[in-house]
Amino acid sequence: IPLPPTTIHPTKILDIDANTPDSHVARDPRMIRFLTPPELFYVRNHGAVPEVLDSEIPDWSISIEGLVEKPFTITFREILEQYQQVTVPITLVCAGNRRKEQNTVRKSQGFSWGPGGVSTALFTGPMLCDVLQKAKPTKKAKFLCMEGADELPNGNYGTSIKLSWAMTRERGIMLAHKMNGLPLTPDHGRPIRVVIPCQIGGRSVKWLKRLVITDKPSGNWYHKYDNRVLPTTITPEMSKKDDQPWEDERYAIYDLNVNSAVAYPQNDEVVKKVEKGYTFRGYAYTGGMKKISRVEVSLDKGQTWKLAKIDYPEDRYRETERTMYGGKVDMMTRDASYCWCFWEQEITMEELVNAEDVVVRAMDDGLSLQQRDMYWSVLGMMHNAWFRVAIRKEG
Ligand code: MTE
Repeated sequence: IPLPPTTIHPTKILDIDANTPDSHVARDPRMIRFLTPPELFYVRNHGAVPEVLDSEIPDWSISIEGLVEKPFTITFREILEQYQQVTVPITLVCAGNRRKEQNTVRKSQGFSWGPGGVSTALFTGPMLCDVLQKAKPTKKAKFLCMEGADELPNGNYGTSIKLSWAMTRERGIMLAHKMNGLPLTPDHGRPIRVVIPCQIGGRSVKWLKRLVITDKPSGNWYHKYDNRVLPTTITPEMSKKDDQPWEDERYAIYDLNVNSAVAYPQNDEVVKKVEKGYTFRGYAYTGGMKKISRVEVSLDKGQTWKLAKIDYPEDRYRETERTMYGGKVDMMTRDASYCWCFWEQEITMEELVNAEDVVVRAMDDGLSLQQRDMYWSVLGMMHNAWFRVAIRKEG
């Protein structure tokens, strides 16, 4: 896997060694499927990427304000110098992952992702709780509002999460400035972004400029009108003013839901009849720091299921990371599940020939299970019904 061009990285100015042990991890054959190289990592930007010159990065500032005893502003350089830097593998998922399937039933709003709105990287930076603690949130503080530098038609991109989540170390919420050992690329939030494991990507604000601690959820347009699973009463024809509960915080989405998809065979892949069979392969992930406990594959539309084999490269990474790469994993985040896993299921040619389709579903250790039917909603988010691959027979 080639590294991205180094000229766009401010390595010299910031004295970050692009050749850190972490930067080799993404190229390690054992980690290739697990970690997504930056050039393949999915990108979701609501507008133009803010232009940040290399020379501006050391003084890039983030303000921490609102319901705190000690508001302060911190620069990029200080974030690197003053806080313990940790490296954690994290899977990011766009809430619109698999939206394309919803759109085939009825057009929703938003980008028509297939099952590719998901990627994993090693993120490096300080834990957000360490930075927030310094500001001393007051007793009234309940939410953490985050704002990026991108200027969009409805203002800067911003959203919020519960402050208690940001203050809980085990949740692994961090301010990341490196991805797979290299400085963030502009598309992914250079020079610094929030990364929230196990929650929808939309909460991980890029090009971070402000952290405001409040007693109410964010009033930002993108918080109120995006990243929601709205009731089915709201249709694409309605406007946001149509007396419909768009802004009801209960419909805002945070934790990812359990999901899985088939990666192989790919669309229109041909399997020759002379083969003995075919190994179906794919990914599964879930939210809330839970772990995928099973992936099942059905050839008879869900009447019977086969139990697929699951590989958890995140566990292998954590077991070997210290000796293999010298990277640091924060002790407190060591036991949590933040990443996708991979499953595979061998199907014989006879089974394949007799089947109309192959269906997959996953369950997590909180017993959340992918449901058979689709919950269609206007923003086309969190689609996690059974993933189905149709089989077409020729000759
Ligand atoms: N942060 C800012 N400032 N602006 C954005 O448009 N998009 C969000 C989130 N953070 C966004 C943002 C969305 S919807 C997603 S899914 C993730 O960033 C995507 O992160 P990535 O492009 O690094 O994969």
